[in-house]
Amino acid sequence: MTEFAKFTPADRFSVAPMIDVTTPTFRAIARLFSKKAMLYTEMIAANAIVHGKEYLIDHDADFINPCTLQLGGSDPKVLADACRIASKFNYSAINLNAGCPSDKVQSGSFGAILMKTPDVITDCLKAMQDASDVPVTVKTRIGVDDLDDFDYTLKIVDSVYKTGCRHIILHARKAWLNGLSPKENRTIPPLDYERVFSLKDHFPDLAITINGGIKTIDECNEMLKKVEGVMLGRACMDDPYILASVDNRIYNDGSKILSRDECFEKVVEYAEKYVSEGRKLHHLGNHIINMFNGCKGARRFRNYLSCHMHELGAGPEVLVQAYNKMKEA
Ligand SMILES: Cc1cc2nc3c(=O)[nH]c(=O)nc-3n(C[C@H](O)[C@H](O)[C@H](O)COP(=O)(O)O)c2cc1C
Repeated sequence: MTEFAKFTPADRFSVAPMIDVTTPTFRAIARLFSKKAMLYTEMIAANAIVHGKEYLIDHDADFINPCTLQLGGSDPKVLADACRIASKFNYSAINLNAGCPSDKVQSGSFGAILMKTPDVITDCLKAMQDASDVPVTVKTRIGVDDLDDFDYTLKIVDSVYKTGCRHIILHARKAWLNGLSPKENRTIPPLDYERVFSLKDHFPDLAITINGGIKTIDECNEMLKKVEGVMLGRACMDDPYILASVDNRIYNDGSKILSRDECFEKVVEYAEKYVSEGRKLHHLGNHIINMFNGCKGARRFRNYLSCHMHELGAGPEVLVQAYNKMKEA
């Protein structure tokens, strides 16, 4: 049985769960740049895990942790079974997705649609807590469709709070389930940070991680004056190098902030190990292809990498060649 989720030091900065982005490979790269950030997996369907696809959550905990496994589901029993299976893999925490608006997720009655039935969130969370020996949290939004006033936000948050959980992750916009694509759901409903901040008046002992539209470390530090944690998604996806300053500037650990080039050296070193284990360079390359955007010669880097990383036998030398092309510019 879990200790109820409380805020941990690692939760000060999180890399958001992102399907097809926060893969094991992305998380490994992120860990090369920041030793302290809390990483999230992609959302993994609890159903898949209990039906034999345990490999989906296998990971190198010693290297990757702190890392939270995000589950999708709405059946308390299935979620609890998935948590029991997950205990073998030593994640730092388990998170329930109650905020993702994709059609696929809605047809499985999980993700954002759970906000329409806060009691189900409570039931899921309790079952997960009973089956886990690590903290269980929820990532949700401030409302859904027309259920979007402040009282409804309070209701959603209360469905989590009353289970004993004391840490919630809030994407500061509502979800529109009909008519907007998942991508539009990340931009069109307006962000309402103030609403998230004002939850503190109602739940003073609930730690809040705020998410949505945060782009820079300076913005993170402003947010951290008002809430306990920040979570960044697209800013890390578009430029994982942002993670290089997190340990120093968010966790204040006094560590050196590596330059972009130094981070790239770490990636090349890691690529050697990666490829020698039989993995394909392009799975890694896809995550760093934009790493030099904004730098002189970035286009040459991208072009070279995209042309050559898929070649049979491509290894770390392709990364170095792409880098050299960029520097020729
Ligand atoms: C490509 C992509 C995939 C995503 N997949 C998930 C997911 O699996 N689970 C989830 O809770 N949110 C998912 N999200 C939403 C993010 O976690 C985050 O809440 C959202 O992007 C807003 O934060 P940002 O403005 O910092 O990107 C995804 C977002 C993106 C861009």
